[in-house]
Amino acid sequence: MRVLVTGAAGFIGSTTTEQLVELGHDVVALDSLVRGRADNVPSRATFVEGDCGDAHLIRSLGAFDACVHFAALIEPADSMNSPETFFTNNVSQSFTMIEALIETGTPKVVFSSSCAVYGNQVEMPIDEDRATNPRSPYGESKLMVEQGLRWMAERGRLRSAVLRYFNAAGGTLAHPERHSPEIHLIPLALDTALGRRDVLSVFGTDYPTSDGTCVRDYIHVSDLADAHVRAIDALDEHAELTLNLGTGTGSSILEVIDSVRRITGREVPVRLADRRPGDPAEAVASNAKARELLGWSPQKSLLDDIVSDAWSAHKSF
Ligand SMILES: NC(=O)c1ccc[n+]([C@@H]2O[C@H](COP(=O)([O-])OP(=O)(O)OC[C@H]3O[C@@H](n4cnc5c(N)ncnc54)[C@H](O)[C@@H]3O)[C@@H](O)[C@H]2O)c1
Repeated sequence: MRVLVTGAAGFIGSTTTEQLVELGHDVVALDSLVRGRADNVPSRATFVEGDCGDAHLIRSLGAFDACVHFAALIEPADSMNSPETFFTNNVSQSFTMIEALIETGTPKVVFSSSCAVYGNQVEMPIDEDRATNPRSPYGESKLMVEQGLRWMAERGRLRSAVLRYFNAAGGTLAHPERHSPEIHLIPLALDTALGRRDVLSVFGTDYPTSDGTCVRDYIHVSDLADAHVRAIDALDEHAELTLNLGTGTGSSILEVIDSVRRITGREVPVRLADRRPGDPAEAVASNAKARELLGWSPQKSLLDDIVSDAWSAHKSF
């Protein structure tokens, strides 16, 4: 297959590109480098530096069998300060690209969505039928693209798989989790264990959870990448898919920090702080639909395995 991967210099995009080239696919890896790093793009992919919203550029690349669309700004807190930046980059640029893809005859789009579309839910686990209620422009930007894709699939313009990830984590030696700015718990905890940060802040200790800290569903980036490869094939049978990608098991912030202490054998000094506005107490996926429709199941996503892989990758840079 000839596949366009956008956001391929980022964490999840680079790992998925790696799996696609390993399987023998011809991958064009597009990234504007607004966040990612060029050295993250697997050398066997063809790297194109550019914005996914550059319609002329997208048309010049010709037809693909599928596009896997990771490119986005991902920081919910920043989106609260600058919603317009997120709607322009994540929504306008996406639709400009998708229109160009339809024009050039690319029939399938696999889209990176997020559990942020669900907002604050009380009942766990969350399945795909749950009413959406994003609490940030970031989450709203993901939902807007989802809705557009659903209409395009319904009107026969393309086939689309919307994948709602919970917390991507882990990493591989070639593609460590290395966001800039870093906002994710595990790399921040590992940086603290390495002494690159003095202290790790824990936001909120009075949530209605077993230890009072937030509970999240961590999924290994390699398991996410595997689901994307399967989703491309599943679109032969389904014109539209909306699937959660998580493990179905939650871990509290303190459980993650304990795992980091155990795996690294190092101290992780923490500072207990107030809740942050908008953080849900819990976000845990029901992954039954992805298991059924993709024949997928997480293989590397036990918490200690995720932290162990993240630690190996993190020490390397
Ligand atoms: N990391 C998570 O836990 C998580 C959870 C849910 C959903 N997601 C989604 O997964 C996708 C990938 O996330 P990630 O963690 O790999 O983030 P990342 O920041 O590592 O990768 C995103 C990449 O997209 C590129 N990019 C951004 N806007 C672009 C544009 N207009 N044109 C071309 N390239 C552009 C950036 O340079 C970056 O390399 C995002 O869409 C994100 O919303 C991530």
